[in-house]
Amino acid sequence: MTERIRPFLKWAGGKFKLCDWINQYLPPGPRLIEPFVGAAAVFLNSSFDHYVLNDCNPDLINLYRLLQREGISFIDYCQSFFIPKNNTSKRYYKLRQQFNETHDTYEKAALFLYLNRHGFNGLCRYNSSGGFNVPMGKYLKPYFPYSEMLAFHQKAQRAVFTCVDFSKTMREAEKHDVIYCDPPYYPLSDSASFTRYHRYDFSHEKQVLLAQLCKELQQQGIRTVVSNHAIPPTRKLYKNANKLVFCEVMRSISANGSQRTLVKELLALY
Ligand SMILES: C[S@@+](CC[C@H](N)C(=O)[O-])C[C@H]1O[C@@H](n2cnc3c(N)ncnc32)[C@H](O)[C@@H]1O
Repeated sequence: MTERIRPFLKWAGGKFKLCDWINQYLPPGPRLIEPFVGAAAVFLNSSFDHYVLNDCNPDLINLYRLLQREGISFIDYCQSFFIPKNNTSKRYYKLRQQFNETHDTYEKAALFLYLNRHGFNGLCRYNSSGGFNVPMGKYLKPYFPYSEMLAFHQKAQRAVFTCVDFSKTMREAEKHDVIYCDPPYYPLSDSASFTRYHRYDFSHEKQVLLAQLCKELQQQGIRTVVSNHAIPPTRKLYKNANKLVFCEVMRSISANGSQRTLVKELLALY
């Protein structure tokens, strides 16, 4: 069995634990398209010749593009922020402000990684004016993901990164492409909503549009696999799929990670 590659970012809804299960349902094809790539666990652990990796978060895609292009020199630069001096609240809030104010994409990308590993629970949250506003976490020695970044850089040579709405990415798919969709989860309850990833809410209407697009693309010979919680509203949402498959996984169900429970996941196969 080949060893799994860990994503180098902490990310809400990350699919690392589920990637073997998901992989067995991805049909073969020349190219995998991920309209909601997040921390990219499925990309890292699948074997397509080509990838289109999209996310609406521009900070995430900026980081991926720089890592893809620059490799080791950029990894070393990112590592220079992971020093004991920067693991104090005074420095954290100074660097967070620097992240929010800089127009230098290289510096912004490295600071995004610094914030991901030093911020509370790896959360990614912005205020209404787009400022990153996650408070500092309490980590004795935040881990620097050197080997994970190197693995990402190597595999990313097969990928094209885009930063648009998922519907645009899906509409640009071509016959025989395979699509894996991991949209923000349908909330388990109103208070458990995790759907505000980057200034945009992922509304019920968007979940419905996604299910409609999957069906339309299927009729054009494009096969899609979609992840979500297995709950009555999502079973209804994906009732037009060819098949639904299920598994159980331990997940944090509160934004601060304090509540963990066994939740049922579904994959809708189109
Ligand atoms: C559940 S996460 C994906 C997790 C990912 N599969 C992983 O393993 O880490 C959902 C992603 O969708 C992105 N997203 C939210 N709304 C979007 C939209 N309208 N278009 C594209 N991406 C969107 C978020 O920024 C987030 O990264």
